[in-house]
Amino acid sequence: MPPAGPFVRRATTPGHPCGARENREERHMHGSAANPRPIAARHSAALTGTVTVPGDKSISHRAFLFGGIAAGTTRVTGLLEGEDVIATGNAMRAMGAQIRKDGETWVVEGVGNGCLLEPEGIIDFGNAGTGVRLTMGLVGSYDFGATFVGDASLSKRPMGRVLDPLRLMGTQVVARSGDRLPLSLHGPRVAAPIEYRVPMASAQVKSAVLLAGLNAPGITTVIEPVMTRDHTEKMLQGFGAALEVETDAEGVRHIRLQGQGDLRGVADFTVPGDPSSAGFPVVAALIVPGSDVTVENVLMNPTRSGLVETLIEMGGSIEILNRRVAGGEDVADLRVRHSELTAIEVPAERAPSMIDEYPVLAMAAAFARGTTVMRGLDELRVKESDRLAAVAAGLAANGIVHEEGADWLTVTGNPDGRGLDGAYGGGTVATHLDHRIAMSFLVLGMACERAVTVDDGRMIATSFPAFQAMMAGLGADLSDGA
Ligand code: S3P
Repeated sequence: MPPAGPFVRRATTPGHPCGARENREERHMHGSAANPRPIAARHSAALTGTVTVPGDKSISHRAFLFGGIAAGTTRVTGLLEGEDVIATGNAMRAMGAQIRKDGETWVVEGVGNGCLLEPEGIIDFGNAGTGVRLTMGLVGSYDFGATFVGDASLSKRPMGRVLDPLRLMGTQVVARSGDRLPLSLHGPRVAAPIEYRVPMASAQVKSAVLLAGLNAPGITTVIEPVMTRDHTEKMLQGFGAALEVETDAEGVRHIRLQGQGDLRGVADFTVPGDPSSAGFPVVAALIVPGSDVTVENVLMNPTRSGLVETLIEMGGSIEILNRRVAGGEDVADLRVRHSELTAIEVPAERAPSMIDEYPVLAMAAAFARGTTVMRGLDELRVKESDRLAAVAAGLAANGIVHEEGADWLTVTGNPDGRGLDGAYGGGTVATHLDHRIAMSFLVLGMACERAVTVDDGRMIATSFPAFQAMMAGLGADLSDGA
């Protein structure tokens, strides 16, 4: 174990509310040792009511990361208390941040920029790709060792996209199975600031490089040819980082961060509702006849609102109400009514603003008249599962006409819910430890004549623990068991 440098390791508090202990128990409940938990969705009566969805997952991860690295106190409300985000909180605790819950507020006492402590144990990120990739960036520029592991899904996902720029900064990587978890990092004595052009549309890669740059002297530059979600840039500025963004004549973004600057806690940080989670009740309301559902407090940042834009183009009745700014972000309430949808060709350049929403869009497309064409989906192959393959297999299992290509998908829908073998449904969907595959096909089942079963609903707890209860509250017929 390398020396921990000038930092003295603080004792962590056993049973701390952020809960290494709590989390270990959850791992026993949901981890690979426990049994899969099938859930069935049945044809549901009209969905009605008003709901709020949990806090945005991307912003919640960053609230723990940036609150944990900034000096002083950050108070966070609206945080998503899903397993993925809790894993990030536990990682920051393991590196010196103090995190506790006070009523509805999460209170983060950060270490100060440059002052992370060497973690004593292995850091387990479970299913959380954003958590592990951003944390590897954050610690990759520190002169100490850190080891990362994840569940079966996360251990299959490519980490080279983050490790490559870290290597350029001087980070040593020990990975035994390609650039995949489990792996260990050891940062250099002094990290080199780099200029890095992100080779794929990935907010995680952009963010990992910027976070590594926080502990490098000089200016770290990320060049982003295709804009992705901008939460890291906006939030780092809010925490006091000297970060500027310039968009050139070609629309390419140049993000420059001055390293080793001060970061200060944010007294009152509010996390808006997650548009990716909102996608499930929104699509359910569009495809279940008679539905009228309002989803309140949804993040409407343009880098995240591609699904709503697409569904409106398809003829979806979605009223965007009460637009406002909360916590520096645009938010709105969405009133959604059952609609006759028409297939469209979704522009490939819209993919980054709805990358996590293609599975649920495919469910809407199944009920749209005509063939919906979705292109530019190569990144779907490396999400929590190969989402293109998982969606195609699930559509096939439920009699829905579709075609899968290397980076595209078409779905030929029918508003009457009748497909290849008569009425839609009747199939069991393999979810491959992917929360969004599970929730998307449960939404499908609410509108099908025959039940749709997902083989395992455990991963829903990573991003939307209250999904089943919330949908049932709107009138959805969901039940445990096949
Ligand atoms: C995320 C970025 C996206 C997205 C993920 C969250 C983030 O991943 O799919 O759910 O918070 O930065 P990629 O960077 O791999 O596109």
